[in-house]
Amino acid sequence: MDKTEKLISLLESRYRKKTRKSLRLYQEAQKVLVRGGSHSIRLFAPYPFFMASAGGPCVHDLDGNAFIDYWQGHYANVLGHNPDVLRAEFRRFDPERGSLHTGFEGESQVRLAELIMSRLGYKDHKIRFTTSGALATMSAVMLAQAYTGREKILKIGGGWHGATPYLLKGVNFHGEDGFGRAESAGIPKAMLRNTLITRYNDIDRLERIFKKQGGRIAAFIVEPFLGVGGFIPASRDYLRAARRLTARYGALLIFDEIITGFRFCPSGLQTLYGIEPDITTFGKLIGGGHAVSAVEGKARILEGRNAKGKVKAKFEGGTFSSHPQYMRAGYVMLKHLVDHAGPIYGALAAAGDVLRTRVEAVFRAEGIEARCTGWGNEAVPGSSLFMVNFPRTDKAFTSAEDVWDPARCDVRLKEEVLKIALLAEDVNVVHGGGAISLAHGPSHLDRTVEAYAAAAQLFKKYLF
Ligand SMILES: Cc1ncc(COP(=O)(O)O)c(C=O)c1O
Repeated sequence: MDKTEKLISLLESRYRKKTRKSLRLYQEAQKVLVRGGSHSIRLFAPYPFFMASAGGPCVHDLDGNAFIDYWQGHYANVLGHNPDVLRAEFRRFDPERGSLHTGFEGESQVRLAELIMSRLGYKDHKIRFTTSGALATMSAVMLAQAYTGREKILKIGGGWHGATPYLLKGVNFHGEDGFGRAESAGIPKAMLRNTLITRYNDIDRLERIFKKQGGRIAAFIVEPFLGVGGFIPASRDYLRAARRLTARYGALLIFDEIITGFRFCPSGLQTLYGIEPDITTFGKLIGGGHAVSAVEGKARILEGRNAKGKVKAKFEGGTFSSHPQYMRAGYVMLKHLVDHAGPIYGALAAAGDVLRTRVEAVFRAEGIEARCTGWGNEAVPGSSLFMVNFPRTDKAFTSAEDVWDPARCDVRLKEEVLKIALLAEDVNVVHGGGAISLAHGPSHLDRTVEAYAAAAQLFKKYLF
């Protein structure tokens, strides 16, 4: 057992002691659910705690532990868990008036669509709702392929766009292959060959790829602020280059705003960059805590037309698309963000600055270098996202390689040790950090910093 394993085993025994009921349920779950749950990221080692209730910044488990939570519904809950504004709305839901699923078009989807489109402010754009981020990005890719008549899709190494076969490549860093591998068996080889990978914020590489293959690329899909790839903003120049090159070579530019939409400002993050993509995907917080996603973009593309104007593509939202209750919740959530944008986004950005600065400081106090990503840049004035990294080099974080290559950062320390060390202190993080919500007040941030300080002391004692 090396010293890291020893520390993990010590921390796991603390975690096991306080989560006995969760362990029992996990054992039952494993008999019926694949690996004991429905999403790998929730099934962390040694086993996940099971949620009993949640409110504001906290999630309470079956054993009565209250964890300050920075996962916040896969980053969807920007107002915290079960915020008052949505609870008040739920009390008004009435199944007889169609707040359960009916399979008919309802008014609330029109209102949510109007709200999103008015915030983006484009002419001749349309939107269609569906139910998951993966479905949205999959449909966006298909629409782009139909429109351009091309098959190649360019994506970022480290870019996660959901479990859709088109984009399940180059998500995780795999040793010498880096971001070059497929993430799943079962994807047709031709599809994998058509998915090209490039490096975030690397303009030269983007130019080279377009020069060589631009005429065969249907679309470049990119997050304006890289999500699980490292919480790194795109430079304004990079997105401008992306816009210029896609336009020059007749490819489409897709912004995946499933994390970034309405998180940094009351609109798509693209409005802060001043760049209009051809297609945008939204998800997460646009549903007010429900399964809502959307594909938005130039009307002729969204209508499934090819370049000659003939309708060719079949993009359907699915059985539960535009579910009336979901649409209404999404509307209430976004309207609240729009109406209170100044204080909300100011508070989120300020909390992000405080937490990133203080977390770095508690590690520094123990002689350990921890560097947060999640900071804004020239286009993004502030950010509520934070990821704690343990760099091995001085290189600035500009791409997913900088964060996920174990030669550049101690990924195991972040992913395995820090996670369990913070759980022992009643703080839940994913990838070393997460998303601050409006419900995280100063006392929660103080408590979180204390938890990181306790982790830093343990690291010093056992590992450094
Ligand atoms: C940027 C981005 N795109 C797409 C997705 C996929 O969304 P979903 O999990 O709803 O399929 C995610 C999910 O985390 C994401 O972060």
